[in-house]
Amino acid sequence: MSELKVSAIKEGTVIDHIPAGKGLKVIEILNLDALNGGTVLLAMNVHSKKLGRKDIVKVEGKYLSEEEVNKIALIAPTATVNIIRDYRVAEKFNVEVPEKISGILRCANPNCISNHEYVVPKFYVISKEPLKVRCHYCERTMEEEEILANL
Ligand code: CTP
Repeated sequence: MSELKVSAIKEGTVIDHIPAGKGLKVIEILNLDALNGGTVLLAMNVHSKKLGRKDIVKVEGKYLSEEEVNKIALIAPTATVNIIRDYRVAEKFNVEVPEKISGILRCANPNCISNHEYVVPKFYVISKEPLKVRCHYCERTMEEEEILANL
């Protein structure tokens, strides 16, 4: 185990290897406010061999849905998700930017039908690095900054 920067958790999820500066955004998209979920720990600018600097988010008592993991992949494609049970890493996986994104992102085009009708927004990932997606309905392309603003 690497040097412990913030306390170990008993049950829950550790999202590790988040690019430095993106940890707060990860907390934001998981809706971890006072009414929703247990204790949240955030470590920013932790030294990392792989990334230079990284952020770490630990959420006690919460396990992520596939949708939440996909959202994290869009913000932090280098992230590792560790599922903790009884203080041990029970499972570890890397997030992966999906080929198609549905339901978790809004189209930035105010005239797009997906912003007016009850249709599930859908996008195709046309580039993973840098991230670029195209709307299935209006063909508008969106890059990282717009994607983050519309998650
Ligand atoms: N962790 C935690 N609480 C635990 C167990 C682990 O908060 N009860 C955290 C560790 O601090 C680390 C992450 O979960 O940030 C993954 O733990 P581990 O696999 O032991 O660390 P590394 O070997 O450093 O992981 P990697 O190889 O993914 O860098």
